[in-house]
Amino acid sequence: MLKKNITELSADQTNKIFNGDSIEIMREMPDNSVDLIFADPPYNLQLNDTIYRPDYSDVDSVREDWDKFENYKSYDTFTSNWLKECKRLLKPSGTIWVIGSYHNIFRVGYIMQNMEFWTLNDIIWTKTNPMPHFRGRRFTNAHETIIWAAKDKKSRYKFNYDAMKSLNDDIQMRSDWHIPICNGKERLRDNDGTKLHPTQKPEALIYRVIVSSSDPNAIVLDPFSGSGTTAAVCKKLGRRWIGIEKNKDYVRIAEQRIEEIDNPCSSSINIKSTKRDQVRIPFGTLIERGLIEIGEKLYCSKKKNIAIVQADGTLQADKVNGSIHKIGAHYQGTESCNGWIYWHFLKNNSLVPIDKIRDQIKSGIDE
Ligand SMILES: C[S@@+](CC[C@H](N)C(=O)[O-])C[C@H]1O[C@@H](n2cnc3c(N)ncnc32)[C@H](O)[C@@H]1O
Repeated sequence: MLKKNITELSADQTNKIFNGDSIEIMREMPDNSVDLIFADPPYNLQLNDTIYRPDYSDVDSVREDWDKFENYKSYDTFTSNWLKECKRLLKPSGTIWVIGSYHNIFRVGYIMQNMEFWTLNDIIWTKTNPMPHFRGRRFTNAHETIIWAAKDKKSRYKFNYDAMKSLNDDIQMRSDWHIPICNGKERLRDNDGTKLHPTQKPEALIYRVIVSSSDPNAIVLDPFSGSGTTAAVCKKLGRRWIGIEKNKDYVRIAEQRIEEIDNPCSSSINIKSTKRDQVRIPFGTLIERGLIEIGEKLYCSKKKNIAIVQADGTLQADKVNGSIHKIGAHYQGTESCNGWIYWHFLKNNSLVPIDKIRDQIKSGIDE
């Protein structure tokens, strides 16, 4: 089981489907430990009667106990409880995706906003092959909504913009996704052809979620894992996964499904870094933000060469003044030098490359 008194999840706590109640299991996990959450919670469809087709055969819909709640209030309490744990578990740069239908998504969205998740998009998953509306009294229900949100308004969240554009023939990816519902070979069935899970999601949908908002090796949590679609896609894409599912049979189905998937070729799962990852941070930013002080001494790794930080972002050394790169090159007697790696500051009597501070700024940790 998972332990709360540690700050990171270890290797033996990932790539697993845990059998149990998601709220209870999440409570045992450490704060800020997951990079991405995909949640496909119960819809609360409130279907009591069997729905019949015009030929009187009954329609496969979700009438399982796991989708039953006494009333809206109990559904809302359940939703608040699992979302509260998700918020605690998400790293500051992490994001959460929650999928639902008109039965539940407005309630989920309202609760998420009240909890100060920061909505980034609502994706409309248009089902290219929806089930018809058998009674003919409403429009065919042909889409679901996926809320994509950051941990809070200030989050510097992960978004692989360029990868999404490449996936879409170099055109910006839009928020309306046209993907068929899960059927054909992908749909898990028993020997009689009966679906093994009533709401198995298409892998294509989760593929886009995972590629857009995580990098290889990221930890992805699915608190309502069902047939294990998220875990299956994670394995194909070289992400680590944690699934939680309270129904033992579904856990077994998911484990068997994951087992049959080969690990990916590691060189093929890397994705292009986004422009934001490449954002240029000048040395002056470190001074403006008070992370390096005017007059502070910077040192080369052997502490032999020293330079003094100036208010204009230059370094003063040996009667020579210039950028971190120029003064580094001056000392090395070379044409050029990467000053970010050459120069160090003193922290608790140890030398730390100034590049570490730049990384902190990029990941938003300095704020
Ligand atoms: C909508 S389905 C998820 C389907 C999944 N995305 C897939 O592709 O197979 C929701 C799942 O959540 C599970 N579930 C419901 N309440 C739960 C809870 N409190 N803890 C853990 N799992 C739960 C149900 O058993 C069901 O399999």
